[in-house]
Amino acid sequence: MTTPAQRYAGRLPLAAGRPVVSLGEGSTPLVPAPRISERLGVEVHLKLECMNPTGSFKDRGMTIAVSQAVADGARAVICASTGNTAASAAAYAARAGIPAVILQPEGAVALGKLMQARAVGARVLEVRGTFDEALSAARELGERGTHVLVNSVNPYRIQGQKTAAFELAEELGGPPDVLALPYGGGGNTCAYALGFAEWGEAMPRIVAGEALERATTVASAIRIAAPVHRAEAEAAIEAADGAVVPLTDDELLAVWRELAEREGVFCEPASAAGVAALAKVELEPGARVVCVITGHGLKDPAAVDRVTVPPLLVDPDPDAIAAAAA
Ligand code: F0G
Repeated sequence: MTTPAQRYAGRLPLAAGRPVVSLGEGSTPLVPAPRISERLGVEVHLKLECMNPTGSFKDRGMTIAVSQAVADGARAVICASTGNTAASAAAYAARAGIPAVILQPEGAVALGKLMQARAVGARVLEVRGTFDEALSAARELGERGTHVLVNSVNPYRIQGQKTAAFELAEELGGPPDVLALPYGGGGNTCAYALGFAEWGEAMPRIVAGEALERATTVASAIRIAAPVHRAEAEAAIEAADGAVVPLTDDELLAVWRELAEREGVFCEPASAAGVAALAKVELEPGARVVCVITGHGLKDPAAVDRVTVPPLLVDPDPDAIAAAAA
């Protein structure tokens, strides 16, 4: 299986002959969502970006950003993160053999993501403050030149992430009518808009679901008060005849459970935002819609614990089990 860096080399800013730091990202499944399609009266497909090597869409950008950092002689990479960028940066840095410094907002990162960054040997620092404050500090260190910043303000991240748009256009024989995705900092929205623009066929309508209560949402991946790409992302959404749709936590969690229980797709809560946003916009009946499922459900086990019933303890006795299972 080729990687996006190989397949789309001509469309990426990587220097020829330079090694690419890769974990086999891209080529993620695109699966239909028949129950959600029926509810909405459109043809919904789910792009399972949660199936990338570290369990989120970030890997598409990180392969390019870390490869470039290595080519530039970086001594270390740094990022601030609500968890997924951290897990991805840490893994690609480990692969490249350079240190990663991870800044995470204190007490605000889901368990799976914390463990991922630690497992691959990153220097993880918990910052007394919000994601937005941690990002400011990371940017400052990036500007000092001691660390290469691999947040999405690093343009190589967006370049890598745009390959998801190419992949979709190839899989579907053209861009979808509508693209729905979560909107945190807005980097991914910019990446898809760039990718579809470069692809050169029609631009899908871009429907971006954001947390109504950005600073406190249960969807910790998108707990971002001040989206760093707001101006560019919202301009791209407007140009694409799309919409930014604010969602309450209850709306997000209801669709998150629907994805899991009715489609068998277990993602993290933030990843349901694109799907949840669809119910709040006018859709052409039968339109072909792709929802980007950005992060894996295993990242955030506590979210499951909050909304589902724990297992019943039973004896290893068939009758007791049959009674309990009924
Ligand atoms: N979905 C997931 C699972 C995410 O982790 C993020 C962002 C988004 C959606 C939003 O994407 O910021 O490009 O609009 N996570 C970042 C992080 C902030 O640090 O991992 P966006």
